[in-house]
Amino acid sequence: MEIIRTIKEITKKCSEVKREGKKIGIVPTMGYLHQGHISLIKKAKEMSDFVVTTLFVNPTQFAPNEDFEKYPRDEKRDTKICEESGSNVLFIPDVKEMYPSGKYKTFVAVENLSEKLCGKSRPGHFRGVTTICLKLFNLTRADIGVFGWKDAQQLLILKRMVEDLNVPIELVGMPTVRENDGLAVSSRNVYLNQEQRNQATILFKALTSAAETLEKFPQTPSSEIVSGIKKMIESAPLARIDYVKMVDQENLEPIQKMIPQKTLIALAVFLGSTRLIDNIHI
Ligand code: PAF
Repeated sequence: MEIIRTIKEITKKCSEVKREGKKIGIVPTMGYLHQGHISLIKKAKEMSDFVVTTLFVNPTQFAPNEDFEKYPRDEKRDTKICEESGSNVLFIPDVKEMYPSGKYKTFVAVENLSEKLCGKSRPGHFRGVTTICLKLFNLTRADIGVFGWKDAQQLLILKRMVEDLNVPIELVGMPTVRENDGLAVSSRNVYLNQEQRNQATILFKALTSAAETLEKFPQTPSSEIVSGIKKMIESAPLARIDYVKMVDQENLEPIQKMIPQKTLIALAVFLGSTRLIDNIHI
């Protein structure tokens, strides 16, 4: 696996690969790779001839009070995982390479969808995500991009962006990978102390219980579903709810009752200062 750090080299490499008629798959990450990322790299490998994994902790998607500085980083470990998972290139630009200081002025924002759910508590977050992803799609000219469903809103917004801006890439979503006790794997799980980690299992338990209720009683009003989830999460003393919402997964608008195949229940919960997100599709 080749490690590339500059825009000049990544564009050269990807042009060569394209010239050979190969299909490029991209897996954008912020590093500190886990089983979830591995599943994305393997899917990209399955669907393309040449996989570019990117490792870039993107400052524009963090607010000043967020964890950009302390976001976990371990380049050596990530390199090994990437190589073992079948990536052909690991692209690790530094911040100045992606956002030349004093010069950078352009941002891409997907209106409306970016202001809902996580966008409400993290204003500007999705503008940073769409901007960096569009830059990475442009640099690699990837044919396929693979993202996790754990960040369901992110994937929906990116899909809207590529459709709206006619970006020639197909975005593929992969199921959330979970620990044995149901907690969605996330790079941020390392922030949790033992007690917070134990209590974090309540997120998936609450989502699963809501899904079971809807399976038995599909007409249950969303207000009841949401309050049931909130009650369960509040039973964990260290958990503080940011939001719990039952929405139409195509436009993230709140729904009164379940719409079969189109219902997303999404939540964000703080355990101490760590904000975890999770969701379930019904
Ligand atoms: O999901 C992430 O890790 C990031 O939001 C992404 C897509 C790599 C953009 O920085």
